[in-house]
Amino acid sequence: MPYNPKLTADAENAPSLCEAFAGRFRVGAAINSWHLNENSREYAVIRKQFSVFTLENESKPEPIHPEEGRYVFDRVDRFSEFGEKTGVRLRGHTLVWHSQCPDWFFHDENGNFVEKEVLLRRMKEHITTIVSRYRGKIGTWDVVNEVIRDEGGMRESKWYKIAGTDYIKEAFRCAHEADPAARLIINDYNLESSEAKADTMAAFVREMLEEGVPVHGIGLQMHLGLDTDFEKLKKNVRKFTALRDIAPDFCLEVTELDVSCYRWGDDAEDIEQTPEFEALFAAKYADLFRFLLELSDEGVLDTVVFWGIHDGASWLNGFPRRHKNYPLLIGREFVLKPAFHEVVGLIK
Ligand code: GLA
Repeated sequence: MPYNPKLTADAENAPSLCEAFAGRFRVGAAINSWHLNENSREYAVIRKQFSVFTLENESKPEPIHPEEGRYVFDRVDRFSEFGEKTGVRLRGHTLVWHSQCPDWFFHDENGNFVEKEVLLRRMKEHITTIVSRYRGKIGTWDVVNEVIRDEGGMRESKWYKIAGTDYIKEAFRCAHEADPAARLIINDYNLESSEAKADTMAAFVREMLEEGVPVHGIGLQMHLGLDTDFEKLKKNVRKFTALRDIAPDFCLEVTELDVSCYRWGDDAEDIEQTPEFEALFAAKYADLFRFLLELSDEGVLDTVVFWGIHDGASWLNGFPRRHKNYPLLIGREFVLKPAFHEVVGLIK
């Protein structure tokens, strides 16, 4: 099909990401419950393009369990009903995290840290309640998110200060007990760029597997940039595929993919989407997808989720500072970018 810069993601004759990669891996997106209005443009796009979904924020600890004993399920229920109705796969994100997590978990009425037993009891109640409610409906859970430091070693979060690494192992056991069929993931960022972080992840997951902790896979967030070093990325990812020597079904998922066009801490002017920029961006995505296809051929990867539906809805327009970003394959106004066609074109 000749390149048509106006072809949109919901057009009848538009190619579909999830159809193109069917049989290799599912392709998905982070959405918000307000995208589930069946008359909206977003809904048409997500139904056509994606077959696996994560809620961007609404199932995180803070929104779902703001106070001890008080849960807010309505938005996640809506998400789960969408999954049941359409048969798409749903990812739950995330049960335990240091961020977007209410402080009541960690403190007593005087504001002091609670004992380890109290924290673990609260965590268990939290996980059991949520995972049981969506048992059989949410197929995959990011059980813990970002528990490792960028420079290697465990993140010294409140969870860790009170309970060491036991909270992580316990979180997986509780989730497994609440839904034995769910796939349980340890999710993190910069695993492709920080060797020290990747080493800690590989060693810690190996320790869990050896102890029989039910961890089924690693979630590679993959918030990448145009400057991402792919040789390093591949080398680090291989540290994780090596875990299959002790757990043959161990898997990887790409959980939050985007490619920012700004460097971290970059104060440069907003970038224009010139043809040169588009070509560079498309080449990056194509390199990445070639590697993802290799992993899928090895049977280690079956899920690739973008962090957002289209460029205009990406968190990267506001983080780490406000600027216009273009990190996804679907652009503003749902236009299919050259990178979209390049990626779909990898499948012949
Ligand atoms: C992290 C989290 C996500 C989200 C993004 C930014 O990667 O895992 O839930 O908050 O940051 O949107």
